Amino acid sequence: MTDKNIKIAPSLLSADFSCLGTEVKSVEDGGGDYIHFDVMDGHFVPNITFGPSLIKSLRRFSSLVFDVHLMIEKPERYIEDFVKSGADIITVHVETCPHLHRTLQMIRDSGVKSSVSLNPGTDPFFLDYIWDKVDMVLVMSVNPGFGGQKFISSSLKKIEWIYRRIKDEGLNVDIEIDGGIGPENAKEVVKSGCNILVAGSSVFGKKPVLSAIKSIRDSIR
Ligand code: DX5
Ligand code: ZN
Repeated sequence: MTDKNIKIAPSLLSADFSCLGTEVKSVEDGGGDYIHFDVMDGHFVPNITFGPSLIKSLRRFSSLVFDVHLMIEKPERYIEDFVKSGADIITVHVETCPHLHRTLQMIRDSGVKSSVSLNPGTDPFFLDYIWDKVDMVLVMSVNPGFGGQKFISSSLKKIEWIYRRIKDEGLNVDIEIDGGIGPENAKEVVKSGCNILVAGSSVFGKKPVLSAIKSIRDSIR
């Protein structure tokens, strides 16, 4: 995989919530590819963040891909709201979806890209039953809920397995990694097969955003 294909998705979770419009704009001006939104409900994960109305209010600040990561119970209840908010990709967690196949189809039917995420302790074998329903797989490399956690290295083995399955089946599915990613490990995760890197604290905690994104990109070369 070449550096040209690698996308950086800064996560607003580590941004300054008092000026999110400016933060979103700084990602676009700083060469980011996606804006990653972490939606948390205080049930599936211990933290609470924001919902579709906040995402909608930020849509006018950027034309980048809005990558919406739902860490909420019963996400199928809110798909329509997030589509209306301007999401381009919607990720649901397999751990929250007893009817995963149907929920992914629902996301696709609403005209946006469908994606499924799995926690560090979740086995990826279920993917073999839903490949035709997903555009992206989001591999959690920390336990979801908070920014700034340490990268869990067993996720590399999981990504390698997923990447191999995608290649073997000749599929067109992206692999995104989320949690503890920065210049120190970006190259390694790309080597394992990821092509989209979520980065929260390594972007917004290392401002200016432009140079933080650049140092992640440079580390991959
Ligand atoms: C964690 C979120 C991540 C978070 C990553 O539950 O899904 O997107 O923002 O933050 P860092 O990059 O700081 O680990
Ligand atoms: Zn996330």
